[in-house]
Amino acid sequence: MIIHTDRSAHQHPVGSEITPLSAYRNRRQWMLGAMALGAAGAWSPQRAVAQGVDRPGRLSPISSVPSSVPGARTVEKPTSYRDATTYNNYYEFGTDKSDPARLADKLKTRPWSVSIEGLVGKPGTYDLERLLRLAPMEERIYRLRCVEGWSMVIPWVGYSLAALIREVQPLGSAKYVEFFTLADPDTMPGLRSNVLQWPYVEALRLDEANHPLTLLAFGMYGEMLPNQNGAPLRLVVPWKYGFKSGKSLVRIRFTEKQPATSWNMAAPREYGFYSNVNPNVPHPRWSQATERRIGDDGGLLARRRKTEMFNGYEPQVGQLYAGMDLRRFY
Ligand code: MTE
Repeated sequence: MIIHTDRSAHQHPVGSEITPLSAYRNRRQWMLGAMALGAAGAWSPQRAVAQGVDRPGRLSPISSVPSSVPGARTVEKPTSYRDATTYNNYYEFGTDKSDPARLADKLKTRPWSVSIEGLVGKPGTYDLERLLRLAPMEERIYRLRCVEGWSMVIPWVGYSLAALIREVQPLGSAKYVEFFTLADPDTMPGLRSNVLQWPYVEALRLDEANHPLTLLAFGMYGEMLPNQNGAPLRLVVPWKYGFKSGKSLVRIRFTEKQPATSWNMAAPREYGFYSNVNPNVPHPRWSQATERRIGDDGGLLARRRKTEMFNGYEPQVGQLYAGMDLRRFY
């Protein structure tokens, strides 16, 4: 994020690749039909083109019900699957937007487990199969606003992180939750760069982590997460800049003191602990007042949209910050 802002913008795929919501719905219906026929593996590019869909992956479908959490389903048009899976920030695989889609197939997502540590009653190793069964999967359609000034709309599949927090029983002294993501030098060439300290670490206040909108995501667009989007599980905190949403989580620690976080350590004046989307507080090197929606007609020349306070989730999360000076706690 410190580097590449302009250059990466030019790598963005053109606006003609938008998938309308109807096509996305058709694709889901088709997938369900294919599964019923036992033909889920029979996806072919030709057939997909005939259906008017853009599904390049062959990931397992993940069933879910529409979320009833207030604010969890924007009616805005989802970004195309193709844009969401080829224009990524996952610095462990490189700093270009196209690096993760190109290189993340090396990531080994099975077996996988998450270590729960710190101030909890039930610490331990939670394997992926157990986490997948912990709570019913919901589909949430969230806006994702990157601190670089672009945004997407992504239909995620997962459940509120609060379900896991309840399960592990935080102690009364726990005030923060720290999220560590995978750092595997054998499969992640980006670790050779010192743009960040590895592993990538992010953290939330416990009440933020417990907010029903904070999502532990296992899938998107009705499929398991593609590697470049953070397989096999990641965080999604829709009212914060995208970098708070750590990918490929391996360790979650409950602490009393506010943890240090990767982007804050790398550039403390630019990236604060809170990093709530806030159009009134500019990044020291650029404004945060507007954003470019990836996939908007016109590509780089498309009209920028106004960025909303807390990314539009103010009715749901504003009270978490009542009385706080958000210029100071950026
Ligand atoms: N998680 C890890 N481990 N490494 C990263 O580089 N990038 C963050 C976040 N999570 C990042 C990460 C940033 S800057 C953004 S905007 C989002 O992931 C992008 O998520 P997406 O590629 O699924 O859109």
